[in-house]
Amino acid sequence: MTSKIPLSDVQAAHAAAGSTAIQRLTLARPDDWHLHLRDGAVLHSVVADSARQFGRAIIMPNLKPPVLTTADAQAYRDRILRALQAVGLSAGDFQPLMTLYLTDNTPADEILRAKDSGLVHGVKLYPAGATTHSDAGVTDLLGHCRAALDAMQRCGMPLLVHGEVTDPAIDLFDREAVFIDQVMRPLRQAYPALKVVFEHLTTAEGVAYVRQAEGPVAATITAHHLLYNRNALFQGGLRPHWYCLPVLKRERHRLALLDAATSGDARFFLGTDSAPHPRGAKEQDCGCAGCYTARHAMALYATAFESVGRLDRLESFASLNGPAFYGLPVNQGTLTLVRSPEVIPATLPLAGEELVPLAAGESLDWRVQD
Ligand code: DOR
Ligand code: ZN
Repeated sequence: MTSKIPLSDVQAAHAAAGSTAIQRLTLARPDDWHLHLRDGAVLHSVVADSARQFGRAIIMPNLKPPVLTTADAQAYRDRILRALQAVGLSAGDFQPLMTLYLTDNTPADEILRAKDSGLVHGVKLYPAGATTHSDAGVTDLLGHCRAALDAMQRCGMPLLVHGEVTDPAIDLFDREAVFIDQVMRPLRQAYPALKVVFEHLTTAEGVAYVRQAEGPVAATITAHHLLYNRNALFQGGLRPHWYCLPVLKRERHRLALLDAATSGDARFFLGTDSAPHPRGAKEQDCGCAGCYTARHAMALYATAFESVGRLDRLESFASLNGPAFYGLPVNQGTLTLVRSPEVIPATLPLAGEELVPLAAGESLDWRVQD
């Protein structure tokens, strides 16, 4: 087994625990509060991986062109439902919760239309240039987006935040901490009742901010930021499949995230940020950001929670805290994880090309029961 840092530690801890280890874990059916499904043939390749585990997912709007209007979101939702149908599933099995892509010009009435549709559950802030397909994003949030933010605060539409500044003079590893001071604090001072989700939190500073913030603020945490620190990017060579944005951070940040996720604090919930890119787009001179974790998402999270002896807190993180924040019911069904080794495949098919999943070739102790 060629396991990288924590998976091997987790397995060793397990071997020491011997037969007392839990063999099976049943949870209320979880949701993924941050997912990239893409479109077209890629959407068709990946949708079943999420639908197999999750009851719902917040679908990110960074398509090319982006999902700007309620009409765009409705049309995209229809395409997702058709992709589900093609694999024998429906919205009853997996409900796509749509989002809009905020721009400098998003009008207030578009927010109200989105709210009225009942299909749009958040508006995503991509600072322009922060990540994949963010060039149409926001250049100055409080300078240009007040009409949209006013409407969102009034109608209870959450703002989903990619929390990194884009100033090239700011060190890549500091961009989340600087964002808190330069954008998040002024935003929340101006809009204290706005619901905000700090997406894919990656730092101890982010955890501290969310923990102490007054008002409706929460954060999603990915499986890869719980399992890996930035060494994974350079283990034995340059590892493009561990490259995502916000980038993996130091071990102390990983430990802060793990502590937050497993603390039982309802402000933290599951969001995979699973982001499929074809192998060739990642293994090149300027590789794309994004880790594909959807296929083994719940097994990866179970591994992280078990590493600190907190499998008992996985259900609140994965299945209860998110619906509470979004004002939605907990899913009706359940999901069962069983202790049974499974090796993550080296590649998966992706629209006639291939995809390398995160931690390809590594062995997990958990799998989802069929
Ligand atoms: O790593 C990332 N990939 N971070 C993002 O914010 C976007 C995502 C993508 O769409 O590929
Ligand atoms: Zn994302």
